[in-house]
Amino acid sequence: MIFKNTYSIDNIRKYVVGIDKKVMLHNGKKVNYINLDNAASTPTLQPILNKVNSFLEWYSSIHRGTGYKSKISTKVYEQTREIVTNFVGSNNDNVVVFVKNTTEAINKLSYRLGLTKNDIVITTIMEHHSNDLPWRNKAKVLHSKVLDNGELDIKDLEHKIKINAGKVKLVTITGCSNVTGIVNDIHYIAALCHKYGSKIMVDAAQLIPHRKVNMKGNKKDDYIDFIAFCGHKMYAPFGTGVLIAPKSVLIKGEPEYVGGGTIISVTKYNTHWADPPEKDEAGTPNVVGSVALAEAIKVLQEIGMRNIQKHENTLTDNLITELNSIKGITIYSPSNTKNSIDKVGVISFNVKDIPHNLVASALAYEGGIGVRSGCFCAHPYVHSLLKISNKDIVQFQKRFLLQDMKETPGMVRASFGIYNTINEIKTFIKMLKYIINNKSVIFDKYILNANTGEYLPKNLPKNIFTEFML
Ligand code: ALA
Repeated sequence: MIFKNTYSIDNIRKYVVGIDKKVMLHNGKKVNYINLDNAASTPTLQPILNKVNSFLEWYSSIHRGTGYKSKISTKVYEQTREIVTNFVGSNNDNVVVFVKNTTEAINKLSYRLGLTKNDIVITTIMEHHSNDLPWRNKAKVLHSKVLDNGELDIKDLEHKIKINAGKVKLVTITGCSNVTGIVNDIHYIAALCHKYGSKIMVDAAQLIPHRKVNMKGNKKDDYIDFIAFCGHKMYAPFGTGVLIAPKSVLIKGEPEYVGGGTIISVTKYNTHWADPPEKDEAGTPNVVGSVALAEAIKVLQEIGMRNIQKHENTLTDNLITELNSIKGITIYSPSNTKNSIDKVGVISFNVKDIPHNLVASALAYEGGIGVRSGCFCAHPYVHSLLKISNKDIVQFQKRFLLQDMKETPGMVRASFGIYNTINEIKTFIKMLKYIINNKSVIFDKYILNANTGEYLPKNLPKNIFTEFML
C-alpha cells in the first residue's frame, strides 16, 4: 500500500489559517491579502491550530501537578524536547531549553557561558541585532566582515579565529541572513572553530523553516555546539523559542532568571539548582507553545524540507527575474538561487527615487501586500550593503536621537513561506510597476510622519483597522 502524506507543497495553502481574509485598502475596498513578510513571522496552519485546540482540553499545570491532566501536559512538553532533538539532529549530550523566542535563547546563552571581558566572541556584520547585542556587554566582540555582495568574508573570519586561537570562547553566526537570504556554510565554519579550539553557535531563526538542519554535521568536527530558533517563523506562533546546548555547559553557573522550577532545594541560606534544562526554565513553561512547535515540525517533515527548498527556490528565482526586468530596481542579494551562493527566499531591494518606506506603505494600502521595510534589525549589515559611510551614519544617528525620521536608510524586503505562489508574485510585480509608473500620484497621496518614518495615505478610512477587536 502506498502511504500518501496529508500535507504537501501542492495543498498546504488551503491549510493556512486566514489565507482567505480580505484586507482594506486606502479607499475602503477589500482585496485578498498577500503576505510577503514571512521572514518576520509566518501565519499558522490549520493542523497546528487544531492540535492546540484539542490539547487545551487536557491543558493543565506541568511538572508540579499530580493530577491526570498535569501528567498529560508534562508528558507532551517533554516529548516536544525529543521531537525537537530529532528535527535538528541534536544528540543526547545536549539539552533542549524552551524560552520565548530566538532573542531570548541567544541572550540566555550569552549569560550562561561565564564570559568575561578577557574572552573573545566572534560574530559577523551580517547578524540580526539579536546575535550581536547580547554579546557586547559580556566579552570582547569582533565582527567578521562581509564582502561587497553581502556574503560573509570567510577569509576574514578564518583569520580572526586563527590569530585569536585560545581566547575565542565562541563564534556566533547566523544560519542565513534575514536581509539577503544568504545561507552561511555553517558546517565549514564549525570545523574551523573546532580546529582552533572555539565553539560555534548558530542563530537558525531564518534557516530552520527553509532547510534541513543537522547539528551533528557530516564530517569529523563540523558539528554545531549551540543552536537557537523559534516557532513563530515556522508556522507555530504561540510563543516558543528554543536553545539547544550541551548539558555539560548549562550545568555550570547560575541561571540568569531564577525562581520556580529551577531548583532542587532552597533554604533561607542556600540554593541547589536543578539540572538543565529545568534549571534554565524559570516559572511555568509554555506548554501550549510546545504543542504547536511539535505539530509544526511534524507538518514540515511531512511536506519535506527538500520540497520546501525547491518550491521556495522557484519563487525566489521568479521574483528576482521579474525585479531585474524593472528599470531602477537595485537588489541587495545574489541574483538567483542557481549561482554558487546559496540563499533562501528573502529578497531586499530599493526602487530608484522612491523611499523604501513609501514603497512598502503603497504596497500595503494600494495592493493589500504585506512586506517589511527599513533595516530589519540588522543595521550594520544594511548600512554596509547600502554603502553608507561612517560619517553619514553618525549624521543619521544624530537626527534619529532628535526623533527626526524624515530620511531613514533602508530597503524593501519580500520574504516567502511554503504557501506563497507565482500568482502572488505576479500581483506584487504589477503593483510595484503601478507604484513606479505613478510615482508623483503616490508622493501626493501619502504623508510622512517625520517622527516615526512611516508613510500613510492622507485619507485613510476611519474604520480601517477595526476588523478585529478585543
Ligand atoms: N527578525 C525578524 C525579521 O527579520 C523579526 O523581520
